[in-house]
Amino acid sequence: RTVGVVLAGGVGARLGLSVPKQMVKIAGKTILEHTVATMNDATDIDELIVMITPGWSEQTATLLGNRYDKLTRILEGGATRNETTRKVLDALGADDCKIVLHDAVRPLVDHRIIADCVRALDSYGAVDVVIPSADTIVAVGPDEIITSIPDRSLLRRGQTPQAFRLSVLRAAYDKALDDPYFAATDDCGVVLKYLPEVPIKTVAGSEQNMKVTHPVDLFIADKLFQLASRTAPTHANQAERLAALAGQTIIVLGG
Ligand code: CTP
Repeated sequence: RTVGVVLAGGVGARLGLSVPKQMVKIAGKTILEHTVATMNDATDIDELIVMITPGWSEQTATLLGNRYDKLTRILEGGATRNETTRKVLDALGADDCKIVLHDAVRPLVDHRIIADCVRALDSYGAVDVVIPSADTIVAVGPDEIITSIPDRSLLRRGQTPQAFRLSVLRAAYDKALDDPYFAATDDCGVVLKYLPEVPIKTVAGSEQNMKVTHPVDLFIADKLFQLASRTAPTHANQAERLAALAGQTIIVLGG
């Protein structure tokens, strides 16, 4: 059994709107609806849970209605992303299963990425989605002076989904509970810190699986959805259209 989780518990402070950023409409639907639709339609996912910003569960239930057959629960998240994951763990039973956690604010994820994550869990306890970095990444000290420039070929940018055997994620969070200095931003970080013996496999993400973070990202994501719906109308959903479009673009550039 594979449980998909849409992490939509944040407020979007960096976007600075009066509503959480996953409630903003792009290409005719809220970002949350785009993401829930793609997760719901993924053949590898059996059940779907949405974690929403505290205070937003009623609006979310009204917004999503009964259009998504795999959606079983809408629950309120915590004050931090890790607290939201902890609430996911509380909500799931003791039976081991596969769990695929995806940021609500990455509405352009495609089914190939989700499938690759679920398949990788047959061999690994933890999986992250990454892409190469086009930019050079530099490390700085508190004074903003560069301390090192790591070899770019060994660096990746982390996206989501992040996928786990439930037993692995639960064991990592149990250990984190005992640590008064617990600090992490994502779930693979928790596994890496508290279960260093568990290898975290990476699978390839995509450039279009962007995270809506800053105002300009709304514009870019909207344009990507528009382009995708114009270009490949035979595909089942927007994200797959976009994946097809990306393929076409590469062919045009290569030719
Ligand atoms: N998230 C969550 N619970 C939280 C914080 C974040 O489920 N307490 C989710 C967000 O809703 C988002 C994803 O984690 O889908 C990635 O987080 P981020 O982009 O940082 O979202 P926000 O926390 O909403 O943004 P900001 O940091 O600008 O406030």
